[in-house]
Amino acid sequence: MDGKIDMAVADDPRPDPWHPQYEVYGNPSAGTPDNKLKPLPKQPYRDYGVDRQGKPEHYWSHEIMKREWDNIWTKTWVLAGHINDIAKQNRFMRFDIGKESFILVRGKGDDVHAFYNVCQHRGTRLEIRDFGMAKEFTCPFHGWRYNNKGELTHIFQKETFRKEVVCGDLNIPKARAEVWRGWVFLTMNPDAPPLRDFLGDDFMALGDPYKFENLVRCADVIQEWPVNWKLGQEAFIEGYHVEAVHPEIARLADTYHAQHDLYDNGHSLTIFPFMIPNPGYEMPNGMFDDYKIALRDAGVEDTDMPAHWTDTRAVMAAAKRKNQDMLGIDYSGFSDGQLVDNFMMGFFPCMTFNSHAEGTLVQRWQPHPSDPEKMIYRFQVYALEGAKRLPIYFGVEPGTEIKRGMPVDVNYADSDNYGIIGPVLSQDRALLARLAAGNHSDAFKGPLYSEQEIRLRHFYDEYYKLLGE
Ligand code: FES
Ligand SMILES: [Fe+2]
Repeated sequence: MDGKIDMAVADDPRPDPWHPQYEVYGNPSAGTPDNKLKPLPKQPYRDYGVDRQGKPEHYWSHEIMKREWDNIWTKTWVLAGHINDIAKQNRFMRFDIGKESFILVRGKGDDVHAFYNVCQHRGTRLEIRDFGMAKEFTCPFHGWRYNNKGELTHIFQKETFRKEVVCGDLNIPKARAEVWRGWVFLTMNPDAPPLRDFLGDDFMALGDPYKFENLVRCADVIQEWPVNWKLGQEAFIEGYHVEAVHPEIARLADTYHAQHDLYDNGHSLTIFPFMIPNPGYEMPNGMFDDYKIALRDAGVEDTDMPAHWTDTRAVMAAAKRKNQDMLGIDYSGFSDGQLVDNFMMGFFPCMTFNSHAEGTLVQRWQPHPSDPEKMIYRFQVYALEGAKRLPIYFGVEPGTEIKRGMPVDVNYADSDNYGIIGPVLSQDRALLARLAAGNHSDAFKGPLYSEQEIRLRHFYDEYYKLLGE
């Protein structure tokens, strides 16, 4: 591959040279000749027109924040965590979003019980731990007790209440939790469609090869960022800024020729081709040191490095297949493209999965409890159980045994303590604050999106639909 690609595609309204390089990079049907993988259909283009979309005040208005709460956050499904985070009966995890907090408890088998983290006496948060094990929860204020389904079991000095005060249903209100391939989603909406309808068959099919059920949490960071949650989400569903902001990524991934697919209900996908640079990046005539790092992760010895960087993709896919026992991962269900590229699933409204055969990097941008110009950012690394060697950008200490139940505390970091991808995230965060400041200006009339930012148009189409506009 020389980086030159045939651009012309009939029936695609996008401007040349901007076209998804599906056969070249991502298509599972373009895997090894002997694999019998189901082709992944390219999603049709969705034409959202060319107008400026959205109002700048949706980044700072308290009134819009309230409408988002009423129409989106309390209505949709959001990821709460992973079933392996509560690997045994009676294990629980806490999940906070906006002003709300929930306790999710593993019941019998795959059951997950979810209820609001709120004592029904005077409203104290029952639990402040992120993860734990409990058969019952005792309120720290006056000692009311609940079982781990949120049902009230004991009122301290009950005889001092007039009986009419404590005669009604005093169990904690429930939320709905449903599990897709190990991922535990929650909704506050009793009338929400089933999770599977929200995700949709085509979008869920993207997860088929990844064995999400066998993922184990290896890193977990929560931070407050000084901008609206949508600015965070936006910055991670487009690669247009990569060449200007992240030179270290621009030489590792061709974000210019990435394929963007739009799915129902606001979900989307980008296939970012790895081990091929952005067109603007000047490459050496020979092998490129940065690419050797990725090949070493795939078990390629220094003596076996290809002579030219353009062979990296093929060598990497072949090495993963050949070395799979040493790497501890069964690569047989993946196409060559999936062994190299970053399949970045975007879940409406606030989450992305960077999906790799070795694991998934989860990012979330959630609303702040009260301030529309702040958000809660969460970054998590989930690696495949039993993996013996992970790509360097997973940031997992080499030699770590990846197994269910391994203790991983949430890191409420003030600094960018993210390992190797920390600098990339700080670049984004710093620029987002600058973007947010400019968005307030009377001279800003709303965004102008390129086709590289088509997922943002798709996002806002769904967003404004839910807001009733
Ligand atoms: S607030 Fe929980 S027992 Fe009083
Ligand atoms: Fe970025």
